[in-house]
Amino acid sequence: MEKTTPRGKVAVITGAGSGIGNAIALRLAQEGIDLVLCGRNPEKLQKSENQVQKYGVRTLVLPGDLAEDDYLFSFLDRAAEHFGGVDILINNAGMALSRRLEDTTPDEFDRIVRLNLRSSYFACQSALKWLKQSDWATIINISSNMGHSAYPDQSAYVASKHGVHGFTKSLAKEVYQDGIRCHLISPGGVFTDMVKISRPDLSAEGMIAAEEVAEAAAFFICHRGNAVLDEIQVHRVGKEPFS
Ligand SMILES: NC(=O)c1ccc[n+]([C@@H]2O[C@H](COP(=O)([O-])OP(=O)(O)OC[C@H]3O[C@@H](n4cnc5c(N)ncnc54)[C@H](OP(=O)(O)O)[C@@H]3O)[C@@H](O)[C@H]2O)c1
Repeated sequence: MEKTTPRGKVAVITGAGSGIGNAIALRLAQEGIDLVLCGRNPEKLQKSENQVQKYGVRTLVLPGDLAEDDYLFSFLDRAAEHFGGVDILINNAGMALSRRLEDTTPDEFDRIVRLNLRSSYFACQSALKWLKQSDWATIINISSNMGHSAYPDQSAYVASKHGVHGFTKSLAKEVYQDGIRCHLISPGGVFTDMVKISRPDLSAEGMIAAEEVAEAAAFFICHRGNAVLDEIQVHRVGKEPFS
């Protein structure tokens, strides 16, 4: 399969102000892909925008909270109306929770499922009408190795990411005939703010770099052959820090 550079296509990235989302934004900017940068914190998004603009791509910053329906059900239309369409959606925003099932409150459970699963699900739904008009229609959902494996003290996160796996695989079959490719990226432990906060005992040394995950996203986007590529699992060589 040959690499094709989809220069000038438009990608919407959630959680683009830090970690994996920031690394994906930079990597796609290197391919000349125009970017819509989403997240709650406008300052973090501004930093990402400054970083990608050196590659000469067009950008739009759309700050907002994906847990709020006003934002969730409007941000893709706003992105598409600004650029005249959307070709690529990357559902990357997410949150972690390290808590035993017996200690997890209904509010904690609702918050993690609302962001990790529900917002990705409905962002995909909102994107479809735009993606159906694109000749490069791609959805990449950032799941986790916890989307297909079990870990103690992570039941709510594991449940949310299993959900992402499930609906992405169904959606892929629903929209393949429309030319829309749906992919999963399932990283192991990546050294980002999420891990620095939830596992201060871990260091960058034993973990995957966000740039390695971004490379998988670029691969999906730039290699568009006949093969169905469902999922890339990005594991640390040797022992995973969370296992
Ligand atoms: N790090 C890992 O080990 C690892 C492993 C496997 C999978 N993942 C997944 O990778 C994705 C990115 O995480 P990361 O590791 O890069 O951590 P991160 O740096 O904390 O990124 C999470 C991003 O989500 C955004 N976000 C959080 N709540 C939001 C909300 N309510 N509305 C809109 N945006 C929101 C954050 O931006 P704001 O704060 O500005 O809103 C932030 O940019 C997540 O889906 C995570 O589950 C991470």
